[in-house]
Amino acid sequence: MRDFTEESLTKAVLQALDRTPDKRLQQIMTSLIAHVHAFAREVELTEGEWFQGIKFLTEVGHKCDEFRQEFILLSDTLGISMLVDHITHRAPAGATETTVLGPFYRDGAPALETGSNIAQKTPGDPTFVSGRVTGLDGKRVAGALLDVWQAGPNGFYEGQHPSVPEWNLRGKFRTDAEGRYAFRTVKPASYPIPMDGPVGRMITALGRPFYRPGHIHFIFSAKGYERLCTHIFVAGDPCLDSDPVFVVKSPLIADFVRHDSIDEAKARGTTAPFYAVEYNFVLKPAA
Ligand code: BEZ
Ligand code: FE
Repeated sequence: MRDFTEESLTKAVLQALDRTPDKRLQQIMTSLIAHVHAFAREVELTEGEWFQGIKFLTEVGHKCDEFRQEFILLSDTLGISMLVDHITHRAPAGATETTVLGPFYRDGAPALETGSNIAQKTPGDPTFVSGRVTGLDGKRVAGALLDVWQAGPNGFYEGQHPSVPEWNLRGKFRTDAEGRYAFRTVKPASYPIPMDGPVGRMITALGRPFYRPGHIHFIFSAKGYERLCTHIFVAGDPCLDSDPVFVVKSPLIADFVRHDSIDEAKARGTTAPFYAVEYNFVLKPAA
């Protein structure tokens, strides 16, 4: 193996994969190398540009820690996360649409009673979220686990900023015997994706929008059903059509209904105005 030319090099690299024992790994690496080589040829990539790319990816790695996942953010902003989500979860009609996990999920949120407030120490518009969880056959799913998380009205998740005390805006709930869930929170607002790192620099260099529409994240787990990772979005949010991570799917847009009645607010143990959103989720049976 020697004397490769600009023309023959790609074939030689692909031949070097001939003895890969894992055939799926071989398929993935063959395609990856072929596409990256084709890309370098197509744009006539210079050494300086390739090194800039390597420096960028190195910075992306250095930016990652327990609370910050810059690689997920990169994958999300390039649309790769949602493409893989579409490929992986071709939902049958009637099942709730899936979305990406995003970089702000944190395992270990406290288990809370139905109706509890996940925003006890975060100021904002009181919001009541409730609904039913069923299977595709319409049967209620009792005892399903919901892992819920969101940013506060100032755009920060717990772990991102000291204004959000530990585990605030995160919680785990179970559906009741009727498959119903309920919790209280504050109304989510649109907020910028983290712009203080290499991905933010990339977004700025590309002149792209960087505000995500307000949303609440959910992961559902229940015996006999496929895990569902999704968001619901606030209807009317001005950023619904410019999500920098390409997640918005129309069926996931929910009406956060404003209530101004002081009596109704008192009956719910809150103040007016408050918001209420009812959203039902449909799980796919386990494969
Ligand atoms: C989010 O859920 O907030 C998020 C998702 C993907 C990229 C950045 C943020
Ligand atoms: Fe989010």
